[in-house]
Amino acid sequence: MPTTSAQNQRVLSGMRPTGRLHLGHYHGVLKNWIELQHTHECYFFVADWHALTTEYDNTEIIAASVTDMVIDWLAAGVSPGTASLFIQSRVPEHAELHLLLSMMTPLGWMERVPSYKDQQEKLKEKDLATYGFLGYPLLQSADILIYKAGHVPVGEDQVAHVELTREVARRFNHIYGKESDFETKAQKAIAKMGKKSAKLYNNLRKEYQEQGDEESLNVAKALLDSQQNISVGDRERLFGFLEGSGRIILPEPQALLTKAAKMPGLDGQKMSKSYGNTIALREDPKQLTTKLRTMPTDPARVRRNDPGNPDKCPVWQLHAIYSPQEVQDWVKQGCTSAAIGCVECKQPVIDSVLAELKPIQERAREYEQDLNTVQSIINDGCEKARDIARDTLEDVRKSMGLVYR
Ligand code: TRP
Ligand code: SF4
Repeated sequence: MPTTSAQNQRVLSGMRPTGRLHLGHYHGVLKNWIELQHTHECYFFVADWHALTTEYDNTEIIAASVTDMVIDWLAAGVSPGTASLFIQSRVPEHAELHLLLSMMTPLGWMERVPSYKDQQEKLKEKDLATYGFLGYPLLQSADILIYKAGHVPVGEDQVAHVELTREVARRFNHIYGKESDFETKAQKAIAKMGKKSAKLYNNLRKEYQEQGDEESLNVAKALLDSQQNISVGDRERLFGFLEGSGRIILPEPQALLTKAAKMPGLDGQKMSKSYGNTIALREDPKQLTTKLRTMPTDPARVRRNDPGNPDKCPVWQLHAIYSPQEVQDWVKQGCTSAAIGCVECKQPVIDSVLAELKPIQERAREYEQDLNTVQSIINDGCEKARDIARDTLEDVRKSMGLVYR
């Protein structure tokens, strides 16, 4: 049951720094971030600790990729004016929350996360039977919960991690959201809303609790959101009171699934560094052209006048992303009748990719030559993030009864 309120529109997402970004990242993730930054309060971070879980014996890769990745984000159009960009390890509060959450997270929940066994299978050459690797998704939960983020834009493979985060939040709120005088405090908070709103709240709560009417729950949440004269603590209490639980300290986030189609790589498989089929955002235009010119086509087209079938050709998948209808018709017609050659067919794709990357590469060059600016963007982002993280952690410590120091 979602406990995010309309107030909780904060967006958070992270990426592991394990090398330069490519078109797969751009179409799959970054374009989505860039859209969200116009409508939501966004926090995007470099998940360097997450990279350590698999690269603990190869930390140079991480160090070399951190700033580079932020440059790729900025070059792609992530705007430091509207989004905050930061580095996970510069906000050590993530680590404390991870530790605290680890105390109440059942081991079985961690072992059941599908990526745990999948990744161990996939990366057989690495010893991933580590404590840190098992804890990876819980560290991700801490990343999300420490900002009380309502939305987490991720790919399909990360949905299970957001799901775990929701369960952990629910458990946390259940255990620590209880106050001995919860009911009294909730009643007092209701009174503060004024007669009319209080009556409405009580009716909606009753409808939800007695009949399970989700609509009443949503209306009640919207009502709480619109209240100007109650404190954050009271609002959390009243959210919790609606569902009969305690105070909601850590709201449950939602996964925001990226709707973008999978970006095909040069061989028709999903674009990914591990397949060696990528085009980097900062790929040299000459090299890019060569890569596309030499990429495989329908194997049936051995000679120029052999007809082909676009459905069996990875170039066609790129046309599907980059080319307007007329060009696609031209490809279909020309390929199946052998009226065009593959070199000719690839040219519009080459032109489109070059045009797409041109402004990105120009911006990247500017940032490469002005690393001070990049550093200060990161510093600002870290500070902003840390302010929020500190507040949440204080509340977490308090609700766990850890305020004796
Ligand atoms: N696990 C994510 C990935 O591999 C990266 C990540 C770490 C993340 N923490 C996060 C994504 C928090 C979203 C929110 O892509
Ligand atoms: Fe592929 Fe185009 Fe060649 Fe047909 S003409 S096989 S679609 S590259």
